[in-house]
Amino acid sequence: MRTVNVSLGSRSYEIKIGQGLLSHLGSDCARLELGKRCAIISDRNVAPHFAERVQTALARAGFETILIKLPAGESAKSLASVQSCYDQLARHRLERKSFIVALGGGVVGDLAGFVAATYLRGIPFVQVPTTLLAQVDSSVGGKVGVNLAAGKNLVGAFHQPRLVVCDLATLETLPPREYRAGLAEVIKYGIIRDPALFEQLEHDLPALLERVPKTLAPIVARCCEIKAEVVGQDETEGGLRAILNFGHSIGHALEAISKYGKYLHGEAISIGQVAAAEISSTVAGLTPQEVDRIRRLFVRAGLPAELKLNSKQRQELFDAMRLDKKVAGGKVHFVLARKLGTVIWGEPVPDALILHALDRIAPRNSRPAAPPGKSRSNRAG
Ligand SMILES: NC(=O)c1ccc[n+]([C@@H]2O[C@H](COP(=O)([O-])OP(=O)(O)OC[C@H]3O[C@@H](n4cnc5c(N)ncnc54)[C@H](O)[C@@H]3O)[C@@H](O)[C@H]2O)c1
Ligand SMILES: [Zn+2]
Repeated sequence: MRTVNVSLGSRSYEIKIGQGLLSHLGSDCARLELGKRCAIISDRNVAPHFAERVQTALARAGFETILIKLPAGESAKSLASVQSCYDQLARHRLERKSFIVALGGGVVGDLAGFVAATYLRGIPFVQVPTTLLAQVDSSVGGKVGVNLAAGKNLVGAFHQPRLVVCDLATLETLPPREYRAGLAEVIKYGIIRDPALFEQLEHDLPALLERVPKTLAPIVARCCEIKAEVVGQDETEGGLRAILNFGHSIGHALEAISKYGKYLHGEAISIGQVAAAEISSTVAGLTPQEVDRIRRLFVRAGLPAELKLNSKQRQELFDAMRLDKKVAGGKVHFVLARKLGTVIWGEPVPDALILHALDRIAPRNSRPAAPPGKSRSNRAG
């Protein structure tokens, strides 16, 4: 088992990463000196696999549990689900020392965390992430919230969990497409912070795609370490935390214009990161070879790296980017890579450069010729 610390003074906590950790959840929670009662919030896909194991482990340590099952999927991340959770918590008389266990992917984690942040003005919660994306990203850092009809994550809070337990065995039942989407965030950590991790991913990708535990464990732990370090320095996104948004300006816009239907988040930010790499090579110093390595890794991971938009979709994409949170003074602000492992953030990028990058990631047969003097003949597919 590996442990990563998130250092936030009195709000510090541990992330545990390993195989079979669900069975120890009771003793782990007992050490936190929480109340006796606890609500497990999960969804209808995850609960049949793991809820009983979690309930048994908690009961063995003397906790009384209730199980709240929500529908699966992004649409469950709503105020209606929050209301339903509040009602059930109140009905079962959960009080200030009671706690919540979020058992599921990022949807359950964000929602259960928001319920924990607000019920009785805040009760403790424990994250038990069961998707790769949730293990390396959403369960760490304390951003919790739900969606409104007007957009994603428009209501939320910062509420740090008391513990994060990443049981790698839970990933075995995750559908392949969801697993690959999580890899987009894993690759992101290499690009923004750790060239050695990026190289390791290039080398170990086949085993990683097979979910081999001894390959997966150090990689998930390294991603958590990077997220913990960034969050430890900038809990509420005043600065550095923005680097976690590499590839997300275009990614979020793509998700929005496709009405959250066509792409999973990981797929959208895969395209977004390739586009951000192209922009980086024009203005931030990333070499064309590095852009190719980035593109190739996403493609090998089974993620999309191309995008073709007609002029109407292009306009929609720009409009969506402007609605995103990273706009100031009319320009979209980007996280850009200087080289693999080093990024800068808050960079205003003119529309023309974004357009040029979008052309560069158009499918090969529809891509315009490279500008004169800029031979890109070494581009790999
Ligand atoms: N709080 C943050 O910092 C942060 C960061 C990134 C993303 N997010 C949020 O995370 C959410 C996406 O999370 P996600 O990608 O984990 O999606 P998700 O929670 O919807 O899970 C994906 C699908 O897999 C199913 N599933 C989960 N674990 C499973 C398992 N072990 N076996 C079988 N099926 C399983 C779920 O029921 C769901 O159908 C978005 O709402 C996003 O906004 C939050
Ligand atoms: Zn993301």
